[in-house]
Amino acid sequence: MTAPILRSLAELRTKTTEWHRAGDVIGVVPTMGALHEGHLSLAQAANDSCDRVIVTIFVNPKQFNNPEDLANYPRTEHEDAQKLAPYGVDAIYVPDPQEIYPDGFSTTVSVTGLTDMMEGPFRPGHFEGVATVVAKLFLQTQADRAYFGEKDYQQLLVVRRMARDLDIPIKVVGCPTVREPSGLAMSSRNLLLSPEGVKVASRMNEIMRRVAEKLAAGKDFEGLAQDAKSALLDTGFTEVEYIDLRCAETLESLPNASKPARLFVTAWADGVRLIDNIPVDPV
Ligand code: PAF
Repeated sequence: MTAPILRSLAELRTKTTEWHRAGDVIGVVPTMGALHEGHLSLAQAANDSCDRVIVTIFVNPKQFNNPEDLANYPRTEHEDAQKLAPYGVDAIYVPDPQEIYPDGFSTTVSVTGLTDMMEGPFRPGHFEGVATVVAKLFLQTQADRAYFGEKDYQQLLVVRRMARDLDIPIKVVGCPTVREPSGLAMSSRNLLLSPEGVKVASRMNEIMRRVAEKLAAGKDFEGLAQDAKSALLDTGFTEVEYIDLRCAETLESLPNASKPARLFVTAWADGVRLIDNIPVDPV
């Protein structure tokens, strides 16, 4: 059975107040819809450790720095509700835009430091949009736990810091990236790739894993990054925006894997911007 779709904050609060009164632990999975297996794994994780699960679907205009990207973003509410049916979801919150950004809305949540690198400079305003909408969704759902994919690792850290800094009483849980058998990270953007583009995109993870192995064996990052960039371009990627090795906790840049780290890559293939990251074992 598909979960009820709630469009107003009043309807949502009626449910969450009842659930909290009963002592239920509420989990929330914030999404922008166009659900794939990565999202469904978050719903599963929420279902495994919470009494009640809310999935939110809201295509947040404030986090798109490209109007075309926003206009083209897939809206598949009916299919999304069907896909969630086996995951024990109690409510799907699809707020009317007025519930998120009422007339005169003038507040922005901005997280500094963690947003100064990688996606921050490449997508001006993106993280303010994310932090603002996620703060609202946390406060509106009054959830106890929130589930985010490690695929957007920088987003995960930004959201965790935002909740901590603002004393929002919620535990932000990171869940592993779900991948195709080729290693390609699941993403709504993969739908935009041609069959040839899928082949190119699928090589990214393999190239990253080779770098991670060499880092774990004690090699310095600088030369490996150059080799990885050449390998990506030779494979058919048209542009590499960044290849970074960063501390898994603070995102400070690292010259080698002297502490738990993550390797981040963002590159373009077939006109599509693809991002991925993997953990790197410390030496
Ligand atoms: O990762 C996403 O889909 C979005 O950035 C999020 C967290 C739902 C906020 O709009």
